[in-house]
Amino acid sequence: METLERTLEWHDNMLKMIDQRLLPLEYVIRTYTDYLESAEAIQVMVIRGVPAIGAAAAFGMALAALNSSALSRSDLLRDLESAAEVLRKSRPTAVNLFWAIDRMLHTATDESLESASDMREALVREAQRIADEDVEVNKRMAEHGAALIKDGDTILTHCNAGALATVDYGTALGVIRMAHEQGKRIQAFADETRPRLQGARLTAWELMRLGIDPTLIAANDAAYYMRQGTINIIFVGSDRTAANGDVANKIGTYKLAVLAKENGIPFYPVVPTSTIDLSLANGDLIPIEERDEHEVTEIGGVRIAPYGIKVGNPAFDVTPQRYVTGIVTENGIAYPPFEVSLRRVVSRE
Ligand code: MRU
Repeated sequence: METLERTLEWHDNMLKMIDQRLLPLEYVIRTYTDYLESAEAIQVMVIRGVPAIGAAAAFGMALAALNSSALSRSDLLRDLESAAEVLRKSRPTAVNLFWAIDRMLHTATDESLESASDMREALVREAQRIADEDVEVNKRMAEHGAALIKDGDTILTHCNAGALATVDYGTALGVIRMAHEQGKRIQAFADETRPRLQGARLTAWELMRLGIDPTLIAANDAAYYMRQGTINIIFVGSDRTAANGDVANKIGTYKLAVLAKENGIPFYPVVPTSTIDLSLANGDLIPIEERDEHEVTEIGGVRIAPYGIKVGNPAFDVTPQRYVTGIVTENGIAYPPFEVSLRRVVSRE
C-alpha cells in the first residue's frame, strides 16, 4: 500500500495528499496535477488544518505555474494571479492560505528570475520550502509548549491540530507528542468535534499511532471532566489569531476556553507566527467560514435531522483574549498584554 511520510508531498511535479475525509477507516492517497483540483481538495477538506492548507495552496500555485502555457514572465504572472484568485476562495478563515499564496506571488515577481522557466523552478522550490519550514516551526513550538506540561498531567485538545493538520508533527498535538517523547507520563483527552468529527476520526487515530493512549469524549462532555478536576491543561490550534490575541479556531473552542477559566484550567492556543494576522485589530474582524448544512444534518452520510430544517454551520468561533492564558509560537510563548507580546514574537522571525 502506498503511504506518505507527510500529510502532503510533492513527487515528480505532482501533489499527493492523504484524503482526510476517509480516515481512520480508509487510508487513501490522492494525486493532483492541476491547481483547480487542489483548490477543490482544500474546499471539500481532503486536506484541512491551517498550515496544511497553506502548503497545499503553495503547491497548487506551483501546479498552476507548471501547467501554464505562458512563454513570458508577465504572461505567467497573469496566470498565477488568476490561480491565486481561485485558491483564495477555498477556506476564508484559514489565514495561512492567503499567507502562502502571497509568498508564492512574491517569489514569482523576483526580478532576478530571467525567464518563465526560471520562475517555474523558483515556485516549486518555494512551495517545498514552505512545507519544510512548517515541520521545523512545529517542532520549535512543541519544545516551548511541552515545557508547560508536568508529569502526570491530563491534557484536553479540540478538533485536530496534529500532523494531519500540518505538513508534519502538528501544533497543539505536536506539544502533546513532544511531552510524550520527553518521557512525561501524560493522559490526553480528544474532543470529538462535531460536525466533522476531526477529534474522533483524526486526533484519536494520530494519538493512538503515537502510543499515547487517548480518551475520546463527546463534545458535550468537556465541562463534566473539567469540573471533576480531570483536565489540567488545554492546548488547541488556531486558524487565525488577531493582533490583540483573540483566537479563531474550530467551532466549540470558545466554549472550552470559557469553561477552562471558570474551572481554573490554563488554556493555550499553539499558533505558528504565520497564523497571526497583525492586520486585524481584533477577532470580530476575522471572516468566519459558513459550511454546507449537510455537515450538520448528516453524520457519516446518514441523515439525522428532519428534511426542511434550518441549519447554522459556522466552521470556527473566536475566543476572546481574556480567556487565553498564553499563545505558544515557534519564537516563544506570548503572554498578556497580547497587543505587545504578539508583535514581539512575530518580529523575532
Ligand atoms: O476545519 P478544519 O479541520 O480545517 O479546522 C482545523 C482547526 O480548527 C485546527 O485547529 C487549526 O487549523 C489549527 S491546525 C494546526
